[in-house]
This record gives sequence, structure tokens and C-alpha cells, in this order.
Amino acid sequence: MRVIVTRQIPERGIEVLQQAGYEVSIWPGTLPPTREELVEFAKGAVGALTLLTERIDAEVLDSLPSLKVVSNMAVGFDNIDVEACTARGVIVCITPDVLTETTADFTWALILSVARRVCEAAAAVHKGQWRTWEPLGFLGRDVAGATLGIVGLGRIGQAVARRASGFGMRIVYTDRARQPREIEEQLRATFLPLDELLTESDIVTLHVPLTPETRKLIGARELARMKPGALLINTARGAVVDTDALVAALRDRRLWGAGLDVTDPEPLPADHPLLRCPNVIVTPHIASASEVTRARMAELAAQNLVAALRGERPPRSLNWDEVHRKG
Ligand code: GLV
Repeated sequence: MRVIVTRQIPERGIEVLQQAGYEVSIWPGTLPPTREELVEFAKGAVGALTLLTERIDAEVLDSLPSLKVVSNMAVGFDNIDVEACTARGVIVCITPDVLTETTADFTWALILSVARRVCEAAAAVHKGQWRTWEPLGFLGRDVAGATLGIVGLGRIGQAVARRASGFGMRIVYTDRARQPREIEEQLRATFLPLDELLTESDIVTLHVPLTPETRKLIGARELARMKPGALLINTARGAVVDTDALVAALRDRRLWGAGLDVTDPEPLPADHPLLRCPNVIVTPHIASASEVTRARMAELAAQNLVAALRGERPPRSLNWDEVHRKG
């Protein structure tokens, strides 16, 4: 039986698939397959280990009747039409938990880098512009003691909040529902509706999944509510923010800056107006990219795929119960 992997992934993932006895076809390109290439490549395969760059929808599924499992090497799954998968009895799996701490670390890398203009200052040194100690050079914003607004206090949002305690910050959060009191107390996080969170936070960091409800959650109106001089950090999904509105807010210097590991569009073209805005750091969707974490993600994605193909409950599936309830 053949399974496909839509890009070269850490070796551990491939080993798990091979040890389980599958014939493993790895997409040879460094870029993702197009839709047509994906369908052609996956013909006859029973399982697909996919990345967030592959769109798996009803049309793709209907072209691949032998496909039984889609295992995404990501915690996010906005690239997959889960309902369409469930309707066709296709199991969908993801890789939560293993990337939580690494993603939270990177969120902090962006917070500190934007607040203290790290990239801009380092670039000046590379350009030979370091002439003396400047009392007015590269003045930034203090993180210690600031108010941190976390939009989405799930696994990653909570890990970001835990790190904030060392900076003596006030933590406010918003979510679809309040977290249990013990979590709020542990994290010293206060629930606020989004609008209030925006007016009170010095730093707003986004940790919600991309859904129809969160698409463009942060638009012109929300950006206008943010404190003058606040920072926006996004390590969730680019489309949670209205990019044009963000460009306008940064150009007008209403915001201090933005740290974006995800953008809309993604990848961001080098001539995109966002890259000409002051104090913006854009990184290429690398928040989970540590050696250990990417290996764990590959391993878990492969374990999910193998278990589901064997008819066993995978460690992390989104629709195992629904598919089995339908019989
Ligand atoms: C990365 O963005 C992921 O969803 O794992």
C-alpha cells in the first residue's frame, strides 16, 4: 500500500511510515505540488501526509477515491475541508502539543525584536553604520511592565502567557469562551472582550485558528481601537489580519510595529507594501521550526497516519469519532 508525503520532511517521519510497511512516495520538489500535480501524485495512495501548503477539499478528495487518511504536519488545519473529509469517511489528523513551546518561544522572539528594533539595528551594523554610542539611536519600547493582550488563550496562547510572567506584565486575553478560573489564576490572565483588550494592550499577540469567524478578525476598525504605539504580533495565520488595513496603520505610524510570522498572502512577495512599512519584521512561517520540534511533528504526523490506516484511533485526529459514528 502506498502513502504519499507532500515534501521532504524530517527523516523520523519517513522511518515511521517505512517501518509500518508502506511504500512511501515523497514529492521531490522544494515547492509544494500544484493541485493537479497533487492529484496525479496521490492517485492510488491510501494515505497522505500533507503540509499546510496543500489545499485538500471536496474536489481533490473526489479525484482520489482510494485516499483514507489525510495527516497534516501542522496544528492548523484551515487547508483541509474537514467536513468534506468526514462526509467521505476520510480521517483527518494534526500535530498539536509537540509544537506549543517552540511556537511560543518564537512569538517572544518577535515581540522582543519588534519592541527593541533588533533586526533594524543589526542591519545597520552590517551596513557599516555603527559609528558611535548614540543616546537617541534605535530607541524602542519597553516590554517589561507592559500590558500583553493575548487573542486566543489555547495551548500556544497559554505558553506565551507563561513566559510573560518573567517580564512582570499585566496579561489580558480574549477567546470564544472564558478559560476555567484555575487557568486564569495560574496565568494571572484577565478576560476582556476583544474591543477592550485592543484599547488596553501595549502588545497584541494572535493565537486563534483561522476559521470563517476569525478571518480578518483584526481589520481597520480593530486596528483603530489599538493604543497608539502598540505592537501587533501574529504567529497564527495571516488571514486573521486584514493586510491592507495593517499597512495603512503602520504607514500612519498609529502602530509602533508588527512582527508577522504569517501573512496574507503567503508567501509575501518581496515588493509587497508591508515590507516597506516602518518597524515590521516578517519571517517565513517558521515559528515551529526548531530541529527537535519539526522532527516531533513529522513523527506524530506519521504515527497518526499509520494508526488510522490500521483502523486504530490515531493519537491526534479531528474526526475519528464522527467518521466511525457514521459507520
Ligand atoms: C503551523 O503554522 C502549524 O499550524 O503547525
